[in-house]
Amino acid sequence: MPQLNEREQWGSKLGFVLAAAGSAIGLGNIWKFPYVVGQNGGAAFIIIYLLCVAMIGLPVVIAEILVGRTTQRNPVGAFKALSKSKFWPLVGGMGVLAGFVILSFYAVVAGWSVGYIYEAAAGRFAEFKTPEIAGNHFNNLTANVYWGIGMLALFMIMSMTFVYAGVKKGIENGSKIMMPILFLLLIIVMIRGLTLEGGDKGLEFLFNPDWSKVTGTTILEALGQSFFTLSLGMGAMLTYGSYMTRKDNIPSAAVEIVFLDTLIALIAGVAIFTAVFATGQNAAEGPGLIFQTLPIVFTKMPGGYIIAILFFILLTIAAITSAISLLEVVTAYFIDEKKWKRHNAVLVFGGLAFIIGIPSALSFNLMKDFTLFGLNFFDLANYLSANIMLPLGGLLLAIFVGYIWGIDKAFSELKNGAEKLFEKSKLRVKIWAILVKYLAPVLIFLVLLQSLGILQKLLDFFSEII
Ligand code: TRP
Repeated sequence: MPQLNEREQWGSKLGFVLAAAGSAIGLGNIWKFPYVVGQNGGAAFIIIYLLCVAMIGLPVVIAEILVGRTTQRNPVGAFKALSKSKFWPLVGGMGVLAGFVILSFYAVVAGWSVGYIYEAAAGRFAEFKTPEIAGNHFNNLTANVYWGIGMLALFMIMSMTFVYAGVKKGIENGSKIMMPILFLLLIIVMIRGLTLEGGDKGLEFLFNPDWSKVTGTTILEALGQSFFTLSLGMGAMLTYGSYMTRKDNIPSAAVEIVFLDTLIALIAGVAIFTAVFATGQNAAEGPGLIFQTLPIVFTKMPGGYIIAILFFILLTIAAITSAISLLEVVTAYFIDEKKWKRHNAVLVFGGLAFIIGIPSALSFNLMKDFTLFGLNFFDLANYLSANIMLPLGGLLLAIFVGYIWGIDKAFSELKNGAEKLFEKSKLRVKIWAILVKYLAPVLIFLVLLQSLGILQKLLDFFSEII
């Protein structure tokens, strides 16, 4: 392949792991994971989620990174390099598009987080005596067109800065600074939660399973969450993998990334539920949990003023390192395939992502009543990308690696950089091959049916018969 030498590369394996963990760890862990756990009854959901992460998430992360490292290309170029058919590059193209769609609504929520750093610092949370006041405050802010779009712009500019500076200088160095700060802040917030009186009820909710709440939907919801949180299914891990060399050990890097992502989700869960239970709030609050429930929790806890500021800073950092990976996919595509300069690609597509994000931001005010298929723009972008494009992308990737490129070729390619593992525990890598080839496609297919509502109808149908 030509031009290999010109392409950017990570400075070190640690740099890659932190950048990829930065992509994985984001709003999915700190905003979404706790409320999904809350809505699905706690510990039982977590156990199923952990199984999904280990048995499907990890093998697919390895497969995605491997395709990237092998081809040293963006998602479209990678499929082109490994197959002659015209179909597969379209799958890569769908990934590039999905990245755009995710970025457009992701950046809106991330913008709220930026805005809430200011709200916390200005002492606004002190007025939140009741859930109604907190809820109204949140609704008033998101109803404000200038606030919504302004914060969106601010967040996009912050994220673009890192991608603009390049793979090593921007993304890697940025992650190396931001990720340790994120870990530290989150641990501080968790310790504060654990030391609150009554916080142990939150731990019980998180770690004491109530199996009666588990249904077929719970399992599929858990798998969907594990996909979103690991940044799978649209070529983000693939693109990050394309900046690795053959000497890098993919299985060990993937285990570290998945471990960190899971650890952070659990720590975030502990931090949030100890606080929610200690102050007698509702755990099943839903998507508003972080912006409406937590600020009340902060006002009620000693040291809450500082903790609140730290919390929204860490949420913003987590969102930036994820948004970076979404923007990098589009950027890499235009650099590799269309020979654009990085700076131009970042300015054009960062700007475009901002413009596409505007209708999502307006979904909370001017365009509230503008719906397609019964969903407003924000919900539609969220639904289409997370529930349809990502599972479909993940399914196709597993099929591609298992059958088109071929598991045997993938297997021998994976060996580069992981020779010791292949010698010592051949069984473990064999299990990887089996999971990618058989288990992942079948289970992801079921999630997809669920997303389309088909599986739900079937499940209902059968439970009626029984
Ligand atoms: N994983 C990130 C989170 O949990 C979001 C994200 C970043 C993502 N890049 C992605 C999700 C690519 C799917 C695909 O917040």
